[in-house]
Amino acid sequence: MTFDRRQFLQSGAAAVVALLGQGCALSGSASSSVLGFTSVPATLRDAVTVPRGYVAQVLYPWGSPTGVAGAMPAFARDASNSAAEQAVQAGMHHDGMHFFPLGSSGDRGLLVMNHEYTDEQLLHTDGVTQWTAEKVRKSLHAMGVSVIEIERRPEGWRQVLPSPYARRVHGNTAMRIAGPAAGSPRLRTAANPTGDQVFGTFANCAIGVTPWGTYLTCEENFHGYFGGPKEAAARIDAAQRRYGIVPGSQWAEYWRFDERFDITKHPNESNRFGWVVEIDPFDPTAAPVKRTALGRKRQESATCTTTKGGRVAVYMGDDARFEYIYKFVSREKIRQGTDAASRAANRTLLDDGTLYVARYDEGGRGRWLELAHGKNGIDAAAGFASPADVLVHARLAGDVVGGTKMDRPEWIAVHPQSGEVYVTLTNNSQRGTPSRPPVDAANPRAVNIFGGILRWREDGNDAGATSFDWDHFALAGDPALHDAETRYPSKDADAFGSPDGLHFDSGGLLWIQTDISGQDIGKGAMTALGNNQMLCADVATGRIKRFLVGPNGCEITGCTSTPDRRTLFVNIQHPGERRDDGTGEPSSAWPDGTVPGTVRPRSATVVVQRVDGGFVGT
Ligand code: FEO
Ligand code: CA
Ligand code: CA
Ligand code: CA
Repeated sequence: MTFDRRQFLQSGAAAVVALLGQGCALSGSASSSVLGFTSVPATLRDAVTVPRGYVAQVLYPWGSPTGVAGAMPAFARDASNSAAEQAVQAGMHHDGMHFFPLGSSGDRGLLVMNHEYTDEQLLHTDGVTQWTAEKVRKSLHAMGVSVIEIERRPEGWRQVLPSPYARRVHGNTAMRIAGPAAGSPRLRTAANPTGDQVFGTFANCAIGVTPWGTYLTCEENFHGYFGGPKEAAARIDAAQRRYGIVPGSQWAEYWRFDERFDITKHPNESNRFGWVVEIDPFDPTAAPVKRTALGRKRQESATCTTTKGGRVAVYMGDDARFEYIYKFVSREKIRQGTDAASRAANRTLLDDGTLYVARYDEGGRGRWLELAHGKNGIDAAAGFASPADVLVHARLAGDVVGGTKMDRPEWIAVHPQSGEVYVTLTNNSQRGTPSRPPVDAANPRAVNIFGGILRWREDGNDAGATSFDWDHFALAGDPALHDAETRYPSKDADAFGSPDGLHFDSGGLLWIQTDISGQDIGKGAMTALGNNQMLCADVATGRIKRFLVGPNGCEITGCTSTPDRRTLFVNIQHPGERRDDGTGEPSSAWPDGTVPGTVRPRSATVVVQRVDGGFVGT
């Protein structure tokens, strides 16, 4: 009854690391030492920096042909590619990503990745002082998902061009809506009175991979693309406001040229975004499907694992200040396997199940609270007319049951052996302000500028459980600072802030990626942290080492390894985002040049390998 819970959580992971070490020794493969590389210093260099003994190569920057046969337009450096060309080229702002092997050699696979958002100044030759219908189409085509085929050759990993798998899913791709909210009144529009078909996915941030080998893309900041005349803001209802959908506050002027983005004319169109979308990467003819059973939010992560009963559990965050962490558990069991027959047998598994929101209590215990119509006070009196309403307005249902309002939940990763679940809470500067929720056990900093990583272990080690133990794996910051709000409490961790991307490789190394906002990089309390970066953690000891630093202005996000752990793919998003004061020029020339302002910086995937071919991160 009195055992130390932190020790309990860590001893599980320690046992796993010991086991892995043994496995490697038995197989006689590369060294199994953990974090054997030399930390990369924090730096403001406009380059990708990796440890000595490693190399990083650029693969698939924005504008590269995706590889669709007969449609492989080259990137035009002056951004003069048309909207139609952009629809068969790499999108902008690469984000979550996964490597799906093809065959058993490990030398071929599909790399599937998200394109989160657009920088309109870079995307169009003359920017967007004047929006046009063509620019709206190009912008929509620059978001979504890429499926590319890649292979390992003597000179490194290369795209296969053309490839029968090559595909772009973007903001105008026809797709289905499935699950309990499909067809409900809130999803019906003039263009689709049956509420079950929609054009496009965009704002695609974090990801998930199902046990049956499909890709889940998460629609995060969808609200920014719906707009209208600002005089209409007063007429917007509370639910739309809670999701940030307010005319006059839009980020892009789509609504002026594509009527479905005008909230005042088509208020339900925005209800058809903010979902997890399932894509079969192996079948380029299969329509993507929006899975409404998982709830609507600013979707971050759809991290899958298997319950003891053989069901799929999906962990999800909602990246906004004071929003929730969710879990979905399917009603039916998974049919094992990742072949076409298994993918077909599991094609409705994400349409029926139970949705929960997390509550993190004092004392390191927590509960999953069910979000179901007619339970826990979620009923017509509370404003939910139907089960569909609960899913479309999952945030409001989370309020009713009393979920814990978190410091911006970003990515979620499940330890491949222990089953412990880790989530990045990227930052929150508003908890200490009047009229905002106060600090709590899970979110203990009033001005949380550095963020942190929280973790939990489900009771009985079963992802289907409804209660769990939790603790903080890391409250990020700088070990050299002295204030409890900003100091990293361990001397064994390199300084970092705003953790965002999170990935466990199959060996149990935890890869942490950061997203300090462009205007804060290299300034104030962030001075010693340098550009955004990727670190590697040994969760058994809490040791964290800086592995990679990105070019100026970028975020590092998206991480996946080959099954042999000898190649790591990492996305560099929005290099050059911060404009130099006064000039309006990008702050980076990466990857095509060396002088900012002379070339358009481009988001791109980088391939990281050890020169000696060993396991990455060991
Ligand atoms: Fe797109 Fe919350 O990161
Ligand atoms: Ca993110
Ligand atoms: Ca972020
Ligand atoms: Ca960012």
